[in-house]
Amino acid sequence: MSKRGRFITLEGGEGVGKSTNVAFVEAWLTSRGIDVVRTREPGGTARAEAIRELLLDPAPNEPLSVDAELLLVFAARAQHLAEKILPALARGAWVVCDRFTDATFAYQGGGRGIDTYRIAQLEAFVQKGLSPDLTLLLDMPPDAARVRLEGRLRDLNTQRDRFEQERVEFFMDVRQAYLERAASAPERFALIDAAQPLQDVQMVLGRVLEERVAQWQ
Ligand SMILES: Nc1ncnc2c1ncn2[C@@H]1O[C@H](COP(=O)(O)OP(=O)(O)O)[C@@H](O)[C@H]1O
Ligand SMILES: [Mg+2]
Repeated sequence: MSKRGRFITLEGGEGVGKSTNVAFVEAWLTSRGIDVVRTREPGGTARAEAIRELLLDPAPNEPLSVDAELLLVFAARAQHLAEKILPALARGAWVVCDRFTDATFAYQGGGRGIDTYRIAQLEAFVQKGLSPDLTLLLDMPPDAARVRLEGRLRDLNTQRDRFEQERVEFFMDVRQAYLERAASAPERFALIDAAQPLQDVQMVLGRVLEERVAQWQ
């Protein structure tokens, strides 16, 4: 049996650079000979991506209830864990995931106002004790991140999804919830100033990875 792989997540609000840097983290680990599975939430498998569509579809004619949103997030996560994350970790691969359960505490907890206790119950039910080994929290003020997001929407010529349509106050609550989670688990989180130029963000990411990988070996 190979040793269980490590589980690394990237977190933060819209436009902070998660998708950009998840690719950087994957490349960094791969260059050190590590077998990496890169994935994202909500989604990561065909069925979980179908649930992602339900979550992101703005469909103005039928609002998504707050509880339905929470349960869909965890339904997608249960599928993602069973089909992709757990098998990868079991064979010794490392998993690098663009968002995970901290996003649920931040968006559905901080943003939508669902009681943290309820989210923690679902977390225990679905994850059975699994949590990331390292979480890279990309933090910056939501108004500045919004400017980046506008740039990306323009470049890719895409519409805003259901979350991207939220007001800036929603994202201030999301940011606050993320920061509180990071403060409550400092050994798992690395807090990264995402407002810096990309090169600087990636220099910090490289340093954090260097340090953690050395600790784990
Ligand atoms: N440090 C940075 N400085 C400036 N622009 C950035 C930086 N990081 C990412 N971007 C750009 O901002 C936009 C949003 O980045 P993205 O990785 O898609 O964010 P997320 O996945 O967190 O929503 C993209 O156009 C990306 O190229
Ligand atoms: Mg992204």
